[in-house]
Amino acid sequence: MNATASVDLAGLDMSDLALWREGPPHELFAHLRREAPMHFSALGDFEHERGFWSVVRHEDIAAVGRDHETFSSARSIVLVDKLSWDPAVPDPMDLAQHMMITTDPPRHDRMKALVQRAFTPKRALEHTERMREIIHLVFDRALERHPDGKIDLVQDVGQYVPAMVIGEMLGCPREDAEQLVDWTNRTTAFEDPRLVPDLGEIMRALEEFIPYVNTMIESRRVSPQDDLTSALIEAKIDGDHLSHEEILMFFFLLMVAGNDSTRAVFTSGMKNLLEDEEQMQLVRSGAVPLEDVVEEFVRFNPAFAYMRRTATKDVELHGQQIKAGDKLALWYVSGNRDETVFDDPNRFDVRRDTSASQGFGAGLARLELRLWIEIALERFPDLTLDGESDRLASTFLNQYRSIPVSLLG
Ligand code: HEM
Repeated sequence: MNATASVDLAGLDMSDLALWREGPPHELFAHLRREAPMHFSALGDFEHERGFWSVVRHEDIAAVGRDHETFSSARSIVLVDKLSWDPAVPDPMDLAQHMMITTDPPRHDRMKALVQRAFTPKRALEHTERMREIIHLVFDRALERHPDGKIDLVQDVGQYVPAMVIGEMLGCPREDAEQLVDWTNRTTAFEDPRLVPDLGEIMRALEEFIPYVNTMIESRRVSPQDDLTSALIEAKIDGDHLSHEEILMFFFLLMVAGNDSTRAVFTSGMKNLLEDEEQMQLVRSGAVPLEDVVEEFVRFNPAFAYMRRTATKDVELHGQQIKAGDKLALWYVSGNRDETVFDDPNRFDVRRDTSASQGFGAGLARLELRLWIEIALERFPDLTLDGESDRLASTFLNQYRSIPVSLLG
């Protein structure tokens, strides 16, 4: 009998971390896709918060994601509205309101246009040599620290490549990558007590981050550079410059979105390849273009398990009454395994057509991932897994905390 046949749908909380220990609960999502395509969960770990609807079918995720008038990004893109319900304790979610990702069109589209030029495939290509250099450097450093080649793919390599790539685009010196990684980990991994032991940790990280960016902004006001921070300072929307908070939080968004996403996709995709000899052979032999490998990496392990929307008006979906103000989670981890769109969706297969895959981002990441896989496989023909992996505790960040590998076999 199917393990999910007796699921208590009324009591099911898809945000319960216990369901996510081994990664996304794919069987449960399959059950919801069949039996309850619009399912309501309480947000059990956050007692002050209103619950949320799970959007799990591929076509519904696409439709809700497109309809920003009915389903707004503006409140928040994670399920919690607030982290602090004590008025005496500052809440980092207040600052998060200034990010482009929590803005709707038309302002959203104007903000996006400001940075989009930097992320076109053509502009990304201009960064090829720099990205190659960074990837080699990060592997070199990992080998210097661990001459026997026994490293952690996430801790020693995964974290640093995206941080250096996006950090340099923002105008940060390469040596600051470690700092950017630290701030990213201490602010976004808010469900994992190993990284964020309490809410104060997020504020402490922000109290270091904010003066760092302020100093960069001040120096660029005096002498602009050819970097994204200068571009944000100079940019105007409808004749007005961005507010200080908007510049600050744009920087923050680019830092965390650039960091968390690409490292998650690279490290979990490599793990899948290393676990499957046939797939690895297909990739190493060049039988499948690396562009397709990247797409299957993202389909199988989207970097973000979901993005949230908030209903702006009452609306009915699959017979359920969604009220204005209700939260909806667009579960990319479910849409990308929808059996009506992908054959045998739980099979990792670099040969498949992934054109319908959901949950992808910038052109920069596609190129970065392709180069990263290419260099890893070329430099390390004997690369193998070397121990137990460990998941990051999160229902939002779909990633590993640790993947021990042996670079030298
Ligand atoms: C494999 C890599 C990546 C994945 C899977 C990914 C995924 C996503 C997803 C799912 C969203 C949310 C869209 C929504 O709410 O509907 C998003 C937004 C965003 N991502 Fe990425 N992303 C990746 C790489 C990057 C990189 C390298 C950057 C650059 C720094 C970046 C910057 C952003 C920004 C700025 C937004 C907000 C866009 C907006 O508001 O329109 N992402 N990304």
